Amino acid sequence: MKIKRVGVLGCGLMGSGIAQICAQAGYDTIVREVSNELCERGIGGIGKQLGKAVEKGKLAAEDRDATMGRLRGTTDLADLKECDIIIEAVVENLDLKNEMWRTLDGVCGPETIFASNTSSLTIADMAAATKRPERMVGLHFFNPVPVMKLVEVVKTIATDPQVFQTAFDFAASLGKEPIVCKDNSGFVVNLLLVPYMMDAIRALEQGVATIEDIDKGMRLGTGYPMGPFTLSDFVGLDTLDKIGDIMYNEYKEKRYASPPLLRRMISLGYFGRKSGKGFYDYSGPEPKVMDLGI
Ligand code: 3HC
Repeated sequence: MKIKRVGVLGCGLMGSGIAQICAQAGYDTIVREVSNELCERGIGGIGKQLGKAVEKGKLAAEDRDATMGRLRGTTDLADLKECDIIIEAVVENLDLKNEMWRTLDGVCGPETIFASNTSSLTIADMAAATKRPERMVGLHFFNPVPVMKLVEVVKTIATDPQVFQTAFDFAASLGKEPIVCKDNSGFVVNLLLVPYMMDAIRALEQGVATIEDIDKGMRLGTGYPMGPFTLSDFVGLDTLDKIGDIMYNEYKEKRYASPPLLRRMISLGYFGRKSGKGFYDYSGPEPKVMDLGI
């Protein structure tokens, strides 16, 4: 099956990155958001990112214009009816996702592949809401999408092998390095990364070391580009908590559960970079370690 037209559900941080790389790879791309304002904000953000690349001399102005010409926003799910593949990147809420899949099931042709960028829900739980479980896969991208090379391509026990191969080749056509994953909550990366980030918070609660030193230890000791607290703030503490909850419910293992400190921070609106406060305070020119009273 040849993919020509791509639909993306959601134009937030992940959705806009996914839409950007699809349009850059030459696909006609239509992004659906709930309001015109969110569409404009998301697509405007892509324009800014590409503009920066042009300024740095990393992208030709004509390529930026051609990419923007392949991108379109809509608020109507019915406008995605011609898409060959639809990639969902909305909030981690199964009911909301499945409501969209049910609508799209009725709107799209029988060949359209449905793909979810979920980080911790299972693909089977979405496939079950559609009449095309064999055409449902996971395509899990990483933040920032235009930079991170990996895509986890997820097959359920019901995915048609040809559909899986099409999705895998599609991920590679975006300039990414796909890996094959089974449909277990967290796939490969979050299965290992979420307990690591939770353990860092537990180490902090136990007074093992300071935020700065734990971050420095993991950066300089293992070569990670960001320490666990910088990374947690980058991912979003509310997102980390939500992913942890889903994985804890799936496995009933304590290592996925949010430590109390994470819960308290979320109650106070410390969501990390996006809210200006997390393990670091982002209000100044450089991030400053937060005093969490530990
Ligand atoms: N969008 C597009 N490009 C971006 C970007 C963004 N948001 N942020 C940075 N970049 C680009 C920069 O423009 C720069 O490009 P250039 O080399 O062509 O000039 C390049 O990335 C490097 O950026 P910087 O020099 O500003 O900063 P760093 O060298 O520190 O790199 C980073 C930034 C790529 C974010 C790096 O710190 C990193 O790799 N961090 C770890 C990120 C990570 O682990 N992501 C996965 C999170 S988990 C996840 O997403 C799964 C989910 O399910 C939770």
